[in-house]
Amino acid sequence: MIGFLTLAVIVQSAFAGNLVEVLQNDGETTLIALVQQTGLADALLGGEFTIFAPTNAAFAKLPQATLDSLSKDTTALANILKYHVVKGSIHKADASNELQLETLAGTKIRFNIYNHNHAVTVEGSNITHFDLTASNGIVHVIDTVMMPPTGNIVDLVAGNSQLSTLLSLVKTAGLAGSLQGDALTVFAPTNAAFHNLGSHVLHNLHSNPELLKEILEYHVVPHTEYSAGLYNREHLRTLDTRHDVIRLGVSHGAVTVNKKGHVIQADISATNGVVHLIDHVLLPARNHLSSILG
Ligand SMILES: *[C@@H]1O[C@H](CO)[C@@H](O)[C@H](O)[C@H]1NC(C)=O
Repeated sequence: MIGFLTLAVIVQSAFAGNLVEVLQNDGETTLIALVQQTGLADALLGGEFTIFAPTNAAFAKLPQATLDSLSKDTTALANILKYHVVKGSIHKADASNELQLETLAGTKIRFNIYNHNHAVTVEGSNITHFDLTASNGIVHVIDTVMMPPTGNIVDLVAGNSQLSTLLSLVKTAGLAGSLQGDALTVFAPTNAAFHNLGSHVLHNLHSNPELLKEILEYHVVPHTEYSAGLYNREHLRTLDTRHDVIRLGVSHGAVTVNKKGHVIQADISATNGVVHLIDHVLLPARNHLSSILG
């Protein structure tokens, strides 16, 4: 005998349509076209899945060079699409801050939930519509296409030519190990930012690994903070020994750190957190630092 509840579920599921039909009804036509182009549609209908579905506008935001190279590389495109799919039905209510879920691409996506504005992000992409129910899963709509990270934060720093000074200082300070821990945010000063300190100060930093470690740890926050979750006048505790705070300014999407630093590239995902590039080296406000730096 079919119970009332079971019947209700069957009726609702039949009404909802399958995952592809739900995407169709919601207008995610670019995603559907790419899913069909890469031959993933059958797979999506052959099981129960949760899809983080970028809108057409999200795909349109991708740099032209990325679109061009993906149009020539079906394997890479399929990998990116699989990075948006998780096995089973994951509802909004199942998400928690820093929860990581394995995707069909093998790499994980990370949820963040921000209390002050109730934003829920996956790899920093804002979820704009939650819990669209399909007969074989769930769709959440996101505003930005997620790119699978290629490594952890140290790998990311090592792979970015603007961050070679930071990489060398991280090694000098013996900090590479702790930057491989989970759930970190790094405000990463570029080579130009370190250059602006002047060669005298840089020399002092290189010859004082303790101080250098303290200063570098002042750029690291022990949880992930993507830009969708940052707010004006927010204070974030850092990893330095006194857990000194950095102070954020957010205005029209532009983010400053301690007033003088500007985030010049935000939301670069790593497997263990996120990196924001900044144009200024941050210094904890402590008297004894000025003599060494001056
Ligand atoms: C994120 O999406 C929510 C809807 O879920 C919306 O209210 C909010 O303004 C969005 N936030 C950002 C930073 O885009």
